[in-house]
Amino acid sequence: MKSLAALVLLCSSIALADSFQEPLANQRPRTHRVAVIGGGAAGASTAYHLHKFAGERSLDTTLQVTLFEKENRIGGRTTTVNALNDTRFPTELGGSIFVRINQILYNLTQEFGLSTDARVFGDEVTSDYDLGVWNGKEFVFKQSNSDSRWQGYWDIAKLLWKYGLAPVRTRNLARTVVDKFLRFYEKPHFPFASLGNVIENNELLEYISMSGKDLLAAYNADGAFANDIVQASTRVNYAQNLDQIHGVESMVCMSTEGGMSVDNGNWQIFHEAVRHSGAEAVMDTSITKVTRNASDSTASYILSTSDETDFGPFDAVVLAAPYQFANIEFDPPLKHVPESIDYVSLYVTLFTSPHFLSPAFFGLSPDSQAEVPSTVLTTLPEDADKDDDLHDFFSISHLSTLYASDAAVAENANLSIPQNLYKIFSHGPLTGDFISKLLNFDHTSTAGKSDPISELPSWDVSWQLEKVWHSYPYEIPRTEFERIKLEGDDRHDGSGIWYTSGIESFISTMETSALMGANVAGLIVQELGNPY
Ligand SMILES: Cc1cc2nc3c(=O)[nH]c(=O)nc-3n(C[C@H](O)[C@H](O)[C@H](O)COP(=O)(O)OP(=O)(O)OC[C@H]3O[C@@H](n4cnc5c(N)ncnc54)[C@H](O)[C@@H]3O)c2cc1C
Ligand SMILES: *[C@@H]1O[C@H](CO)[C@@H](O)[C@H](O)[C@H]1NC(C)=O
Ligand SMILES: *[C@@H]1O[C@H](CO)[C@@H](O)[C@H](O)[C@H]1NC(C)=O
Ligand SMILES: *[C@@H]1O[C@H](CO)[C@@H](O)[C@H](O)[C@H]1NC(C)=O
Ligand SMILES: *[C@@H]1O[C@H](CO)[C@@H](O)[C@H](O)[C@H]1NC(C)=O
Repeated sequence: MKSLAALVLLCSSIALADSFQEPLANQRPRTHRVAVIGGGAAGASTAYHLHKFAGERSLDTTLQVTLFEKENRIGGRTTTVNALNDTRFPTELGGSIFVRINQILYNLTQEFGLSTDARVFGDEVTSDYDLGVWNGKEFVFKQSNSDSRWQGYWDIAKLLWKYGLAPVRTRNLARTVVDKFLRFYEKPHFPFASLGNVIENNELLEYISMSGKDLLAAYNADGAFANDIVQASTRVNYAQNLDQIHGVESMVCMSTEGGMSVDNGNWQIFHEAVRHSGAEAVMDTSITKVTRNASDSTASYILSTSDETDFGPFDAVVLAAPYQFANIEFDPPLKHVPESIDYVSLYVTLFTSPHFLSPAFFGLSPDSQAEVPSTVLTTLPEDADKDDDLHDFFSISHLSTLYASDAAVAENANLSIPQNLYKIFSHGPLTGDFISKLLNFDHTSTAGKSDPISELPSWDVSWQLEKVWHSYPYEIPRTEFERIKLEGDDRHDGSGIWYTSGIESFISTMETSALMGANVAGLIVQELGNPY
């Protein structure tokens, strides 16, 4: 009986399930139909873990999972584009880096045989420095590339002379926060029915209720290290300053040890997760309405698209995308409507150019090319008025040096010169004027014109792509958290409307979205296995 149910799951075939007609002792429906809306990290993980947990528990109920994704690809905020339009150069446009302790992502790379590249920063040879922190006037910190490979900010011996004990205290604090968070993965916490409770039960409320700046001050780790290093990290990772972002997310930013990304694109983790889940993936399909059939004793939901195609009925719906951007009408209205929160509008600009970062732009002498770090992070001078952001950008990275294909060179002879691939994060669109100063080439911007970089000559910028993301929320200090079950919290039979994106105001990463997907899957399977 149990092994047969598992086999049915494995094949994930309705036909097989239907041919198995033996009545069950109780009256629960034999097939539990789950709709997952969204094929990013959270939705892919939901589908994968529904399949995995149901198999592990040999559920009597067969899960039938359908995943809806409005784009024609799985991955959501993780996706690659091909630099120089060349498939040899896939480049992350969204979520780029995860760390070894991100056990869901890491374990999936192992399971799917995806290779990860332990090196986070570029392979250039033009600079003596992997990393520098620029405050708008000078570099307040530089990391030499002759040091051993990038290991995070914790080259403590070298930091001590400059910053005293603050680096050690910050590291200890980051470890404390991460250790508390890692308990979310384990019994008795996992799966958690309430985000607020799991945060409180693991003593993280204190850290999230104050800013990173206040948290570091409370642990005697404020001052220059917080300003130069921790704030550079919160700015590159979340486009937020240390006095804005809460303490938990600030410490996540300092937990960079064992950084990696999947060769040729992190989206492959989520693509493979959906594939292995056995779920049906309905692509290019934007859900616009979820209707509950009130006259059905076991609630059932119909999902509709704008062209009036209906799908369902489903027993459960998992919304795996931020509610405020999903544009879905719920009928009847949701019992618990997720709060609308501010998201960062982040401009990610990728471009290639034969030119190098200009020493003069950073106030260095023109002949000191090797002094310009290949990745430039930013902070503000310690005495700066925090409302007055001095920078046009949050970070600039020289990712790699590309050699165009023979075919591309045949079309544009200028591509015979090696092309530098850059990525810039900024709060607005970059202009030709800015790029020409950054890379030190002649450019006459027409006064009054918007001066987009797409109009720069192809010998200065040979390829470019700009994407504006709602990348992550403003991680303001908070003590209230979103519900995981938005409808049906009075029932405990795996039905209802579930929500993953509430976790983003706690920690917004690929891993935490995947964790929430696994958590919702765990809750659904738990309810199905232990009916009340
Ligand atoms: C530029 C950038 C850099 C980042 N860097 C990192 C990093 O280095 N490391 C890290 O861990 N994280 C990073 N992040 C954050 C990380 O990418 C996200 O936290 C994570 O990918 C979110 O996953 P998700 O599944 O919750 O949401 P999403 O990825 O947004 O997935 C939601 C999906 O739902 C779909 N959808 C929405 N509405 C509907 C609808 N009505 N019908 C059907 N489908 C719908 C969307 O198309 C999307 O595919 C970065 C993000 C950005 C943008
Ligand atoms: C890349 O493709 C775009 C769109 O097709 C095209 O406009 C552009 O010229 C191409 N660039 C290169 C460097 O091949
Ligand atoms: C990941 O793999 C490790 C080692 O096998 C295991 O201990 C851990 O529980 C796994 N974590 C998850 C979330 O699967
Ligand atoms: C609603 O549920 C009832 C009872 O199961 C069923 O008879 C009816 O057809 C359903 N309506 C729709 C629109 O699915
Ligand atoms: C190459 O660059 C030069 C300027 O340096 C320009 O005059 C020429 O038109 C470019 N060639 C092509 C094929 O774009």
